[in-house]
Amino acid sequence: MQEKIKALLEEIESLKSQSLQEVEELRIKYISKKGLVGQLFEEFRSLPNEDKRKVGALLNQLKDVAQERINHLRETLSQESKRTPEIDWSRTAYPAPLGTRHPLTLVQEQICSIFARLGFSIAEGPEIEDDWHVFSSLNFAEDHPARDMQDTFFVANAPGTLLRTHTSSVQSRVMSQSEPPIRIICPGRVYRNEAISYRAHCFFHQMEALYIDQNVSFADLKQVLLYFAQEMFGPKTRIRLRPSYFPFTEPSAEMDISCNICSGKGCNFCKHTGWVEILGCGMVDPNVLESCGIDSHKYSGYALGMGIERITNLKYRVKDLRLFSENDQRFLDQFESAH
Ligand code: DAH
Repeated sequence: MQEKIKALLEEIESLKSQSLQEVEELRIKYISKKGLVGQLFEEFRSLPNEDKRKVGALLNQLKDVAQERINHLRETLSQESKRTPEIDWSRTAYPAPLGTRHPLTLVQEQICSIFARLGFSIAEGPEIEDDWHVFSSLNFAEDHPARDMQDTFFVANAPGTLLRTHTSSVQSRVMSQSEPPIRIICPGRVYRNEAISYRAHCFFHQMEALYIDQNVSFADLKQVLLYFAQEMFGPKTRIRLRPSYFPFTEPSAEMDISCNICSGKGCNFCKHTGWVEILGCGMVDPNVLESCGIDSHKYSGYALGMGIERITNLKYRVKDLRLFSENDQRFLDQFESAH
């Protein structure tokens, strides 16, 4: 008898079922009056009295375990069926409002996709940088004013560590880690120690492009600039290059586009000149190539860098830079959603 009880206990403990119908069948098989457990109770009656105490305890335990197992199977199945209703009655009747993408993200994505079509791939670098990647490798003189505390945020108690002031630092990272041909764009956030006003902020965003290969010339740069300007601002856009100076390029230039607001006729936005400045560029200085381990006799290249806020201003006529970081929903809602 004790053997039988043990065997049935094991059987019941491993019971499984797929449906509530099956659970009901198990209930009848095991714990209904005429079920297997009930039959053992019948047998129990005819045991000699001296065995009844011990076997009775075992039988009661078996009955409890069987009841618990059946209850447990029933509960898990009914919870599962609640979890996967065919219709979600709790859904709202109207489409849920979608978020919008930040205008800087929209413009950044657009710039990336224009350059991607020309074969550029995206490279990123850290925002907390060291002096070498931000300044020294890029040919900045020891006493260059950008290295001054007034222009750059230095990390306290960490000599030579600073928040990058431009995305050109990614150029030196990529050049010192890879072999030409290099064709990258580097979008990212940069920091400068500026008083916050409608036209300056202590952080903003830039996009850098770099192309290094054999025989890269200024003509290649100019063609890419024209393509970019027309893709970004429309096919009638004209460009003009003015000589300029950057430590890391030689020769250097700044690029203006014909004012996209008055089409170059002259308006308040372009201060009646018909032109607006949008980026800096030039041929990578041989000193920069050499300091990043690239043979400047074999390779040459061009670089360009632009402020994403500036491009966004031109595209969306946002006059106050501070709007970009205030998270005012009335401003953000005016831009395209992600779908
Ligand atoms: N790094 C410059 C800045 O922050 C922008 C720039 C100018 C980047 C000329 C370039 C370049 O790559 O060639 O003002």
